[in-house]
Amino acid sequence: MCGIVGYIGDKNAYPILIQGLQRLEYRGYDSAGVAIYNGSLTVHKCKGRVADLERHIADKDISGCIGIGHTRWATHGEPNDRNAHPHTSMNGNFVLVHNGIIENYAELKADLKKNGITFQSDTDTEVLVNLIEYFYQKGEEVNAEIAVRLALSKVVGAYGIAVICKNEKDQIIVARKGSPLVIGIGHGEYFIASDATPIVSYTNSVIYLNDNDVAIITKDSLTLKTVENTPVAFKITKVDMTIGDLEKGDFEHFMLKEIFEQPKTIEDTFRGRISPDRTEIVLGGLMDVFPKLVNARRIIIIGCGTSWHAALVGEYLIEEYARIPVEVEYASEFRYRNPILSAEDVVIAISQSGETADTLAALRMAKENGATILGICNVVGSSIARETDGGVYTHAGVEIGVASTKAFTAQVTVMTLLALKLAKERGKISSEVYLNLIQELSEIPGKVKSILVKHPHIKSVAAKYKDASNALYLGRGCLFPVALEGALKLKEISYMHAEGYAAGEMKHGPIALVDDNLPVVVVAAKDHYYEKIVSNIQEVKARKGNIIAVVTEGDDGLKGMVNDLFEIPKSHPVVTPLLAIIPLQLFSYYIAVMRGCDVDQPRNLAKSVTVE
Ligand code: F6R
Repeated sequence: MCGIVGYIGDKNAYPILIQGLQRLEYRGYDSAGVAIYNGSLTVHKCKGRVADLERHIADKDISGCIGIGHTRWATHGEPNDRNAHPHTSMNGNFVLVHNGIIENYAELKADLKKNGITFQSDTDTEVLVNLIEYFYQKGEEVNAEIAVRLALSKVVGAYGIAVICKNEKDQIIVARKGSPLVIGIGHGEYFIASDATPIVSYTNSVIYLNDNDVAIITKDSLTLKTVENTPVAFKITKVDMTIGDLEKGDFEHFMLKEIFEQPKTIEDTFRGRISPDRTEIVLGGLMDVFPKLVNARRIIIIGCGTSWHAALVGEYLIEEYARIPVEVEYASEFRYRNPILSAEDVVIAISQSGETADTLAALRMAKENGATILGICNVVGSSIARETDGGVYTHAGVEIGVASTKAFTAQVTVMTLLALKLAKERGKISSEVYLNLIQELSEIPGKVKSILVKHPHIKSVAAKYKDASNALYLGRGCLFPVALEGALKLKEISYMHAEGYAAGEMKHGPIALVDDNLPVVVVAAKDHYYEKIVSNIQEVKARKGNIIAVVTEGDDGLKGMVNDLFEIPKSHPVVTPLLAIIPLQLFSYYIAVMRGCDVDQPRNLAKSVTVE
């Protein structure tokens, strides 16, 4: 949430900052701003998107080789020009951009006010920049770096910050606690960003900051230390990302591009994990902890949103095939509800970004309680990936559309690999079944392609339902989480209210919603729940609901029963979630486009939720 960028070197900072903010816009898009040093510190900021900022700045002098920038997802204070970042301290000595939340800002603000400090905005960030200035002006020996560290030592909450001091203009000070920060290393220049996407245009050598790190960066040097002033050795990591990954190419939206990338991203996720002769699943990142997993008393999978849906698929698969008890929890609930944990529990966090605040906090809590903690993340080097005892990367590549699509199928792919590997290791499935299921998984990319080519049909069905106000999504077993995910996709990008339900629960309430205006999307692929879901279809039909069914090719029985259908190729139920979600992603996408919504950046959302 919120994206921050910075540049220090010999180039003009502004184009680098603006391009960086465009890349980070998925993290928040309420307002944007930049501060550039050129003899004096100049701040330009406004409500709206990065494009609005560019228009706002068009006729202004923006030259200068040191700068910081921000794109905001509002926490404290409504999105407006005043609350936009960068924030400047009262006497103009410091400008600062911030991602995160200063939880004790009210108390700090009250103390600063008592010392005569006045505020222009409603933000917690302006409190922090003034606290820095307060320490700077108070102590004779206090330089900018010391002032930043002193201020951070008083702060409760999360931050990724970049600060420029007017009087020490040849440096940018950055610090991290809870909100990600990456420093790109160029030749005689450094780049700063919330993630590596703005940096890869210039360098692939980066340093991921850890919590409590403070970096003092000039164009020729980088010093890393803790808030308490202990030197820290830094590790340079090579980022494996190309510019092409960050562009839409021929697609109208990132979301559409990412939906169409799924044959490749699913394959990338299992390639290297299925042996070339397709007889073995190898999960290298779990090697050290595998005995713990195999003998776990219980596996708890935590996540938020789409990642939580992938966790639910994992629960069905692991319990069914490996026969290990699994619980799935919303990270936001788990972290606060004092769960009973022991060293025999394994807690797996699923997170595309690897930075979701609730998931990270829940994981830390599980670790403190003695559980083994694992991560299934997409972003390499992310906080969750670094803090866990082991894990599996999803290899979906950069996901820029705010609505998760390819990350979900990559997560489900990992869940499938894990369930099968555990089942085999625990002797719960025969070699024959194991080999057959590996084969089924390896055929998924081709089957996904065959669904994607049917996009004109899906678009035409979307056109029929685009004006509905509500939709109900139903599924059973492993396809229940698919129904939940389908409903989430629709509501988050088209703002059409949609509910996902376990089909068997329909009679216990939601059936009251069914009338001839309600589209009911039923995930009815052939599996051992099929007869039951057909009964649910009959119940909806009897009440004149409009049924859109996801069905297995060749299932002619349902054709006369439903209004519209999306066919998916025949597959083993273990891999059907990977197919069934594809038409639902496209259905949501087309409806959102037809409703004129901003598909890639839906209102109020942000890609990486680094605040509670
Ligand atoms: C929905 C979506 C969100 C995320 C959720 C968790 O399309 O993308 O629901 O799944 O915010 O994010 P990660 O996976 O980064 O932890």
